[in-house]
Amino acid sequence: MSLHEHISNRKSALSFSEQVLADGVFIKLFEAARWAPSAFNEQPWRFIAARRDEPSFNIMLDCLAPGNQAWAAKAAFLVATLAKKTSSHNGAPNRHASHDLGLAIGNLTFQALEFGIHLHQMGGFDAQKTISLFSVPEDFEAVTIIAGGYPGDIESLDEPIRSRALKPRTRKELNELVFSGTFGESHPLFTHPSPTK
Ligand SMILES: Cc1cc2nc3c(=O)[nH]c(=O)nc-3n(C[C@H](O)[C@H](O)[C@H](O)COP(=O)(O)O)c2cc1C
Repeated sequence: MSLHEHISNRKSALSFSEQVLADGVFIKLFEAARWAPSAFNEQPWRFIAARRDEPSFNIMLDCLAPGNQAWAAKAAFLVATLAKKTSSHNGAPNRHASHDLGLAIGNLTFQALEFGIHLHQMGGFDAQKTISLFSVPEDFEAVTIIAGGYPGDIESLDEPIRSRALKPRTRKELNELVFSGTFGESHPLFTHPSPTK
């Protein structure tokens, strides 16, 4: 039993090649996102997609924090992810909207890896500016901007981005995450150190 390679090997990308995505491949990423589950089948996710040859790419790039712009400028595409804040069935705040958007992004991430495309999600961006520049309606929250593309050459990255790209990924141990009975009390199955992958 081993984890799927896309889960074991995925890493937030910092290097992108100049290879362009075929239209059909780009469409399939959002098709994968579309089939995610959501509370009341609300499908609260919306996306503003900007491929690097489109004028909106540089507008979106400009919404990113400078530290993110440094590497995301080379991405093949940027996607702003939006969540509808209220439920359509009763107009009440939808407290699962970000959760459901995250599931859609999980699907998109996995499908992208299947195509050899890697992504990097970012919270470091100006949400208000994004909403304003892309005329996002009041009922939507800008949650992340995602950079994606085919992998580039890590060795040719400038420092400190190169060192960051070479760093191994780290995670909390399962016994810090999975409890039994009382919050904080590790479940007996998870008291041993986690396997690395
Ligand atoms: C919602 C979210 C926001 C993030 N924001 C940023 C960001 O602004 N800049 C950045 O470099 N990485 C960002 N990351 C990437 C995380 O730092 C990264 O996922 C984490 O360190 C684990 O590394 P890994 O994705 O390579 O496993 C973000 C990830 C998520 C899911």
